[in-house]
Amino acid sequence: MFVSENLNVNEKGHLTIGGADTVELAEQYDTPLYVMDEQTVRSACRRFKNSIDKYYGGQGLVCYASKAFSCLEMCRIVASEGLGLDAVSIGELYTAVKAGFDVSKIGFHGNNKTNEELEFAVDNKVGHIIVDNISELLRLEEIAKYRNAKPDIMFRIKPGIDAHTHDFVKTGQIDSKFGFALETGEAFEAVKQAIACENVNLMGLHCHIGSQIFDIDPFEEAAKVMLDFIAKIKNELNYEINGLNLGGGFGIKYLNEHDPAPLETYMERVSKVVKNTCSERGINQPYIFIEPGRSIAAPAGITLYTVGARKEIPNIRTYISIDGGMADSPRYILYKSEYEAIVANKANEERTEKVTIAGKCCESGDLIGENMPLQHAESGDIIAVYATGAYNYSMSSNYNRLQKPAVVFVNNGESRIAVKRETLDDIIRNDI
Ligand code: LLP
Repeated sequence: MFVSENLNVNEKGHLTIGGADTVELAEQYDTPLYVMDEQTVRSACRRFKNSIDKYYGGQGLVCYASKAFSCLEMCRIVASEGLGLDAVSIGELYTAVKAGFDVSKIGFHGNNKTNEELEFAVDNKVGHIIVDNISELLRLEEIAKYRNAKPDIMFRIKPGIDAHTHDFVKTGQIDSKFGFALETGEAFEAVKQAIACENVNLMGLHCHIGSQIFDIDPFEEAAKVMLDFIAKIKNELNYEINGLNLGGGFGIKYLNEHDPAPLETYMERVSKVVKNTCSERGINQPYIFIEPGRSIAAPAGITLYTVGARKEIPNIRTYISIDGGMADSPRYILYKSEYEAIVANKANEERTEKVTIAGKCCESGDLIGENMPLQHAESGDIIAVYATGAYNYSMSSNYNRLQKPAVVFVNNGESRIAVKRETLDDIIRNDI
């Protein structure tokens, strides 16, 4: 049973991804190795885009949340599918610009953008800047005035929606560092202030209620709350907000028992709510933006490791140690996130054991997972962890001075390197 459709087993009994033999990939590129299947990325982009066309008359833009996984090649692929991009730092912006991304389709986020970042965004004519707080609004106004520019902006709003997900990835509730609160009147005052600014153009509102959300109801709720606010702005300030960014957060299947709603269902239901609410409130239907990250990148990726030590502690547990860990796969130590794994070179064999897969970092908590059903694994075997395409490479570190792994893209059986493995000299490149 595989969590994504790009995985299969070939005649050698080896796991394949996008038609490529993972055992051969491990031999060719070494491990640990991130492998991304290009067609899975493309198909997720198309499904989102097509569903906006189908359910919302094409009046919207899918902005890939590049925090999930950013590199030049990923930006090029996403751009070639006609998507926009959500960037959250000058580093993500720089990557997109260098990849030749259409800057007019980029939205720039962040709860504490520096002046350098704002200047970079204005100078590079980034499509719109999602302003998080008043200090940022005032700084941006100054920066734009000095350059004789008038950037489009959105306001990030906390819609007060409590999505059922891990506390650290919830962002839409009032006690959050992100955005303007509705309940307190803060958001309304900020809108008045923005309208009075001469060098920014308030064109939209943004919300993002959290990540890895399975339920569609909170997305519908958030859309209604935001449209109510747009109606209030129209009625009380006589100002039309034409853009509505509904954020990302769509859940994916990490485990076989996970059953997220299809992306199309989300778009169908949310489009309906937007249309109905607009006609009830007498406002124009906004152009909508969505910002999926995980749902585009995660299912496309796997991580390959080589097994080193096998340690059986009688009546307690068996540790299978791999040549990577929390430095390349930090989601277990951060959130206790669960994954499915397989012994890639024994993919047809039965899963006869429940093991703890351990990383090689000097921390007891450095695990890939506990009680994972697995084929009998020994030194030299290749382990593949599924659905690692989002928030693994992008959150990787050099802890213990480990070199970051390479990223390889596969496409219909062919592979190519997208990010080189770090060398030992990379580890000391900034040391003096
Ligand atoms: N838009 C905004 C404003 C966001 O803050 C995020 C994610 C997204 C879009 C994309 O959300 P997605 O579709 O990927 O769920 N490191 C955590 C996830 C943090 C998500 C942060 N914001 C993890 O590994 O689960």
